Amino acid sequence: LRQKYLEQIANAADEAGLEDIRLAAVGKKGEIALKMRELGKMTPEERQTAGPALNALKDEINSALSGKKAALADAALDERLRTEWLDVTLPSRVRPEGTIHPVSQVMDEVAAIFADMGFAVAEGPQIETDWYNFDALNIPGHHPARAEMDTFYTHRAEGDNRPPHVLRTHTSPVQIRHMEANGAPTRIICPGRVYRADYDQTHTPMFHQVEGLAIDKDISMANLKWVLEEFFTAYFGTSVKTRFRASHFPFTEPSAEVDIQCSWQDGTVKVGEGDDWLEVLGSGMVHPKVLQAGGIDPADWQGFAFGMGIDRIAMLKYGIPDLRAFFDSDLRWLRHYGFAS
Ligand code: PHE
Repeated sequence: LRQKYLEQIANAADEAGLEDIRLAAVGKKGEIALKMRELGKMTPEERQTAGPALNALKDEINSALSGKKAALADAALDERLRTEWLDVTLPSRVRPEGTIHPVSQVMDEVAAIFADMGFAVAEGPQIETDWYNFDALNIPGHHPARAEMDTFYTHRAEGDNRPPHVLRTHTSPVQIRHMEANGAPTRIICPGRVYRADYDQTHTPMFHQVEGLAIDKDISMANLKWVLEEFFTAYFGTSVKTRFRASHFPFTEPSAEVDIQCSWQDGTVKVGEGDDWLEVLGSGMVHPKVLQAGGIDPADWQGFAFGMGIDRIAMLKYGIPDLRAFFDSDLRWLRHYGFAS
C-alpha cells in the first residue's frame, strides 16, 4: 500500500492528479479509511500493531502529498517565469499627444508678465447682460458704439420685453464686476473670449482679449504707457515700436489706441521692421461714470484700463498673417507653425 501510493504521488503530473490520489488514499472513503474500519473486526492484539501502523502510514502519505504539492507549485511558477517574460529594454510605442493652442500659450505668457507687475487675474461670464456690456460702461441705448460693435444678441421668449442678453463684445464688463466685488485700489487683468459679427483676415466672430484695470489714488496716463511698453518689451523679447494714437471710447477719457510697427507682405508678418502698423489695443483713463457704476467714488480714485487683442499679438509674435487659421483646427497648419508635432 505504502509503496503504491508513494510511487503514485512521486509521479503525479499536476495538482488535479495529486488530489485524485489523496482521495483514493487518505480521503473519507479512501483505502486507508477502509482499512481503519476493519480494525474493529480484529483481535485487540492485532489492533495494537495494525492501528499505529495505519496511522503512521496515513501521516507519511499526507506529508508526501504536501511535499509534492509544493514541488508542483514551484514548477508551475518556474514555467510561468520562463514563458511569460517582458523585455523592458524595448522602446515604448509613440502615442499621439495634444499640444497647447497658440492662443492659450499667449494667454499664459501675458498673465505671467502682468503678474510680475502685480496684476492678478479676474474672470467674468461670456454671456452678459446689456447693463454690464454697455450701460455700466457709459454706452447708453442710443449710443452708436452699440451698433459698431456688431453684437450677437440672445433671443427672449415672445412677450418678454426685458433687454436680451448679449455675447460679450469685449472684456470690459469684467471691470465693472470686479469693481463691484472688490472696490479700490485694484490691479487686475481679465483674459477671455469675446464675440462680434465680423470676419476677415484680422477679424473672427470669436476672438480673445485681455482687459487691464489699475485703480489707485494717483494713477495717470504715464503709468498706463509705462506698463504697456514694459509689457511689449517682455512679450516680444525686444523693444518694438509702439504708436499711441488719441482715440475715443465711451468708458475712458482721455483714450488712446496702440499700434505695433510691423511689416506685412508676401503672406508674412514681422514685428520690429516695415511701415505697417497693427492695432492691438484700446486704452485710457477710466471714465468717472464707469467708476461710479462699479461703486467707486471718482472723487477719491482714478485708474487706467486697456483692452488688448490676444490673437493679434499672437499673430505678430508667430508671424501668422491670417487670424482665421487660428480657429480652423487644421493639424497641418498647427504643425507648420510648430504648434503640434
Ligand atoms: N473695450 C474696448 C474694445 O474692445 C477696448 C478698451 C478697453 C478701450 C479698455 C479702453 C479701455 O474695443
